[in-house]
Amino acid sequence: MPVQTFQPTRSPRIQSDNEFLHAFKDHEFDEIYPEDIGRLSPCHWSPVEVCQMAARLLVLEPGTRVLDIGCGPGKFCAIGAATTLGHFTGVEQRGRFVKAAREMLQHHHISRTDIVHGNITEVQFHAFDAFYLFNPFEENILPILRIDHDVEMEPHLYDDYTLHVQQQLERMPMATRVVTYFGSCAEIPECYACVKTAYEGMLKLWVKTRPSLEDD
Ligand SMILES: C[S@@+](CC[C@H](N)C(=O)[O-])C[C@H]1O[C@@H](n2cnc3c(N)ncnc32)[C@H](O)[C@@H]1O
Repeated sequence: MPVQTFQPTRSPRIQSDNEFLHAFKDHEFDEIYPEDIGRLSPCHWSPVEVCQMAARLLVLEPGTRVLDIGCGPGKFCAIGAATTLGHFTGVEQRGRFVKAAREMLQHHHISRTDIVHGNITEVQFHAFDAFYLFNPFEENILPILRIDHDVEMEPHLYDDYTLHVQQQLERMPMATRVVTYFGSCAEIPECYACVKTAYEGMLKLWVKTRPSLEDD
């Protein structure tokens, strides 16, 4: 299947009256966080424009349930909910990011979002329709990406988490959509095809196009 490239465009204002959610400049968005969390943004949180594009690629109809796998302080969930009609859940293992995400969403009255404090291994993917990943597990194998020492980091955890995501995605129905931003995409099973790219191939839209061995 040919891979299309997707041009960034500004998305229409849909829900929120909060100007910052539609800001194109990341620093305007990241200023809403405590300083220690905002300054992690250039390396660890998706840019505003990428969040908008990824959300548009994943939400095909009102109510589409999107899971952000490792949501950090909820930037993708907030922007996704403000610029589409999807429902955005983020799962995050670090308590300080969960707290920052919940406070930000509550303070700015952003509905259609949930932030779950936990590990991705506890999440059943069948409760969702579409998925977003921005490099969630690489810090286990690349020390330069390590955010802090608040959670266990081990190379075998990269394999464990990647395998869990792979197995869960394999069991999803045909036509399930996943967007990845950066990363090796090792979490994406063989039964998915990359059908669109943007940002010089750094953002990829994957669709389950073939049945997996798990399907019967
Ligand atoms: C690179 S950040 C991306 C944050 C957000 N998705 C975004 O795009 O702005 C990856 C996040 O995944 C979280 N994470 C890593 N492994 C996780 C796991 N096993 N379960 C839950 N969260 C995890 C990290 O704590 C970090 O906040």
